Amino acid sequence: MKRWNIVITGFGSVGKQVARLLDKRHAYYKEKYKADVRLVGVARSAGGCFHPDGLSVPQWEDFAAQRQITESSFDGAAFLSDSNADILIEAGPTDIQTGGSGLVYIRQAFVQGMHAITISKGALVVDYAGLSKLAKQNNVMLKISGATAAALPTIDLLQYNLAGCEVRAIEGIFTGTTNYVLTRMMEDGLSHEEAIRDAQKLGIAEPDPSYDIDGWDTACKVTILANAAFGASLQLQDVPKTSVRDVSTDHISFWKQQGKIPKLIGSIRKTDNGIAASVELQAIDTAHPFAHVTGTTKAIRVETDVMGDLLVVGGKSDPVAAAAAALKDLEHIISR
Ligand SMILES: NC(=O)c1ccc[n+]([C@@H]2O[C@H](COP(=O)([O-])OP(=O)(O)OC[C@H]3O[C@@H](n4cnc5c(N)ncnc54)[C@H](OP(=O)(O)O)[C@@H]3O)[C@@H](O)[C@H]2O)c1
Repeated sequence: MKRWNIVITGFGSVGKQVARLLDKRHAYYKEKYKADVRLVGVARSAGGCFHPDGLSVPQWEDFAAQRQITESSFDGAAFLSDSNADILIEAGPTDIQTGGSGLVYIRQAFVQGMHAITISKGALVVDYAGLSKLAKQNNVMLKISGATAAALPTIDLLQYNLAGCEVRAIEGIFTGTTNYVLTRMMEDGLSHEEAIRDAQKLGIAEPDPSYDIDGWDTACKVTILANAAFGASLQLQDVPKTSVRDVSTDHISFWKQQGKIPKLIGSIRKTDNGIAASVELQAIDTAHPFAHVTGTTKAIRVETDVMGDLLVVGGKSDPVAAAAAALKDLEHIISR
């Protein structure tokens, strides 16, 4: 039985769900892959919790429940290095300016021969090419399902299911929050402010909703997918984007009269001049495949050369689904 030691960096909503699922699936991994998968360490912003034989559920639950962690000089990279783990699962904050602690942890993981699964997007947005190269140099894997629409298969669809095809274009509804807000505006006549407040009440939107609402989340996913699946070298700032805040109730009335439906669509297309990517607010026809993709539901449509067009719709948008996407990546690593 091969032993796999796991460290999770970032132990908030998603990190804790990863730990829960790891515990729940421990026997399943043994049975299916002859793999003894143990969570040996978890790190928060100012402290970590480690046991070389594996943390028990009460141990990590107690650590997660602590309001204040007292390690004033906590060094997450040193914690990761000392853990001697096999796989890093990075679930810390998404820092799209510098890559933040996620970038530091993933680089550290590769240098010491660990595979990395990332749910946060910052490191990938800032330096996908560098991380991919470093992973190859160290003969380890970089897995990114959790950062690229999570429960909606995107990167796996492009890299595994369509292997060998030329993928000419993709378009997608990649952010559940914006789709929910636009759906409430269309179906219930809410203003964008009211729809955002409603999404916040339901826990769909963050207290500061800008990252989703202003198109950053979709732009990050588009940037990562363009670089990882289309071999582009896009920067986040190369992707033009629109905000749901630009939609007024007058726009909604006009689109209703025209029989159109507004959607925030991220797209990537091969052109004669290279890869074109954008995040646009599009008023689509009722015949468009995304017309019935409502609420927090996400979708991706892919155009290929020899397999035709494909449409995938669905996948939950919540911390459990994000954690499950990361553990799909884990299975791909331990089953190799
Ligand atoms: N929530 C979702 O449904 C979802 C879905 C897909 C992707 N994501 C991505 O997943 C990531 C985590 O989301 P979340 O909702 O779990 O966020 P969260 O609840 O805010 O948790 C973030 C965690 O990161 C920790 N952290 C901050 N700085 C750190 C550092 N330097 N080293 C180690 N840990 C650090 C925080 O520590 P403290 O506990 O000390 O504050 C906290 O435990 C984000 O990047 C998000 O974009 C989330």
